[in-house]
Amino acid sequence: MHNFQICDPAFERPVDGKHRAVASLARFLGVKADLIPLPDPQIQMCTPEQRINLWHLVEQALAYGVPGDFVDLGCFDGRTSAFVASILARHGATRRFHVYDSFEHQLGLSADPRTALLENFASRQLPPPVIHAGRFETTLRHELPPAIAFAQLDTGIGALPEFHAALIQFCLTQLWPKLSPGAICVVQDYHDPASGAAAENYYPFIKTTVDEFLAPHGVKAVALYSGRYSHGFFRKPR
Ligand SMILES: C[S@@+](CC[C@H](N)C(=O)[O-])C[C@H]1O[C@@H](n2cnc3c(N)ncnc32)[C@H](O)[C@@H]1O
Repeated sequence: MHNFQICDPAFERPVDGKHRAVASLARFLGVKADLIPLPDPQIQMCTPEQRINLWHLVEQALAYGVPGDFVDLGCFDGRTSAFVASILARHGATRRFHVYDSFEHQLGLSADPRTALLENFASRQLPPPVIHAGRFETTLRHELPPAIAFAQLDTGIGALPEFHAALIQFCLTQLWPKLSPGAICVVQDYHDPASGAAAENYYPFIKTTVDEFLAPHGVKAVALYSGRYSHGFFRKPR
């Protein structure tokens, strides 16, 4: 067992000739720095650091035997979902993996995201997930599994802050009763400015929304170092 799929070309932006040329020029000029390819949203929406964090969190839910299925809310074209599924597959885990999306937004993708999702799973020899197509406002009320061990929430499409915050709040409200004790929930774009991390803070209201939701439950989210993008997680108390 290893976690080298974190930088597998299947999940990582390939280093191209131009990148290699600039890197050798930088070395020639004595620049003591690595050139790390930026995540390209057309290819991946998840930094290598986020994949490292995801690997440990998924692994943790499995290693501690947290009961339930795995869910991804906002799967888009399924690249990050496929990464999570690859961890389940390598573990030989038989948990069901549910993905949710309206598939209404192409976000620059030329293909239909639902078709791309199936291709992204098939090309990595992964079994297809259970797809719940439709708006969260409809699907989450009736189509979340009764017990969830691991959830990921990634709903950013550049909507107005009040709509986006209300959507996050709605998703958390639907998820919370289904999360098993010890379950992990990863929230994309959760950013803590106090961390001092020089990461993107695309949606500053996400931290406030998540923190306000968790406070009455006595739970605190943790902002994770995740490179250029931000995310964090919380664990439902046992
Ligand atoms: C940033 S993308 C997710 C990226 C994906 N997690 C990844 O890592 O590749 C956000 C997704 O949330 C979905 N979404 C946003 N609002 C939604 C809603 N109300 N119901 C269903 N899906 C929604 C969009 O369709 C989009 O695919």
